[in-house]
Amino acid sequence: MTQRTLVLLKPDAVRRGLVGEILSRYEAKGLSIVALEQRTITAEQADAHYAEHVERDFYPPLRAFVTSGPLVAVVLEGDEVIEVVRALNGATDGRKAAPGTIRGDLSLSNRENLVHGSDSPESAEREIALWFPGL
Ligand code: TYD
Ligand code: MG
Repeated sequence: MTQRTLVLLKPDAVRRGLVGEILSRYEAKGLSIVALEQRTITAEQADAHYAEHVERDFYPPLRAFVTSGPLVAVVLEGDEVIEVVRALNGATDGRKAAPGTIRGDLSLSNRENLVHGSDSPESAEREIALWFPGL
């Protein structure tokens, strides 16, 4: 089933010059870029994106990180794209993510883990509307 998902290439990906490398992996898999924009977000925008996490202990440093510089927001489309992107991204903690995944190959951090991918059709719909209200 064709779906859309919201991906973020977080500020560590931009700072480290990994935007091309990461987008290449999604494109090579056969996913299509529907929308793409580099932005620097405010604390309020971070809170809206991570609404499910704002009360968690790990959230204040996560908010500081995602607002620390430009990130690249992307809408990707493809067959089962929500699950496919999360598999390509790998486990949350870069130290534990499997080799071959984006986080497993390129991140050594549980916070600065390069990428976000929506975790369900409901999340994808909410996040795409939040980041790209025109779509
Ligand atoms: P989460 O939604 O659990 O992970 P994922 O990005 O794989 O869907 O958490 C959101 C982000 O919060 C995660 O990418 C990195 C950060 N985070 C921490 O900094 N510490 C933690 O203990 C967890 C669980 C997440
Ligand atoms: Mg998540």
